[in-house]
Amino acid sequence: MIFKQLFETDSSTFTYLIADSDSGAAILVDPVRETVERDLQVLKDMNLTLTATLETHVHADHLTGAKLLKAKTNCNIAYPAMVKSSCIDIGIKEGEAFKVGNIELNPLFTPGHTDHHHAYLIDTPVQKLLFTGDALLIEACGRTDFQSGSAEALYNSIHNKIFSLPNETLVYPGHDYEGRFITSVAQEKVRNPRLGGGKSKQEFVKIMDGLDLPYPRKIQTMCRTKLKAVAPFTTRDKERDKYNEHASMVFEWFAVNIQYLIMS
Ligand SMILES: [Fe+2]
Repeated sequence: MIFKQLFETDSSTFTYLIADSDSGAAILVDPVRETVERDLQVLKDMNLTLTATLETHVHADHLTGAKLLKAKTNCNIAYPAMVKSSCIDIGIKEGEAFKVGNIELNPLFTPGHTDHHHAYLIDTPVQKLLFTGDALLIEACGRTDFQSGSAEALYNSIHNKIFSLPNETLVYPGHDYEGRFITSVAQEKVRNPRLGGGKSKQEFVKIMDGLDLPYPRKIQTMCRTKLKAVAPFTTRDKERDKYNEHASMVFEWFAVNIQYLIMS
């Protein structure tokens, strides 16, 4: 197996390149639009063929590179099947392995950060790698206060689907904001300040309810970008101002419905 961890600095997002060394078939897990050219160059340098992009969930903090990568390579776009969008080619479900050549990624339904979130497990006799998206981060976890999030659901997902895996399972998160790259199930069980040390669901929910996080920096930009594409006017300043005022008013609604906005 060929494996490469890539990073997008603006949104602190990890993209993972996973490829079958025999066939040269490759996928990108959670690609970012801003780094599509970098990713294509990496694939070219390694003589790999991109067959699909695979998302853990619909992201509110950055735009996926999936559509652009498909336009440039004709790869498939894979998303959790619960996400409804005409641009999705492959719907992912727990219990149905996603294959890249001879490599199998096993989807684990891990709602909580979003209601459709999936993690992906590569489990072979020699290695156990888990791509946790925004469910479990290094000494942290994804927020649960919008995108149909639920702290109770995330606690259940992490305990039932992630902490139940062997301790040596390596955990590759969707983001890190402090220059870290990797963790393990064993490490998070002990060191995670929100979930480790046997914290109860009640304690976890209280921690998550008290975070009081601002909305992701890019969410309003993404909403406006999308709205501009459908607005009946786009050129005259006065009308654009009127439109932007409207965009601010409906921002809260979009924050709740972001998955449908970004994927539509
Ligand atoms: Fe996310």
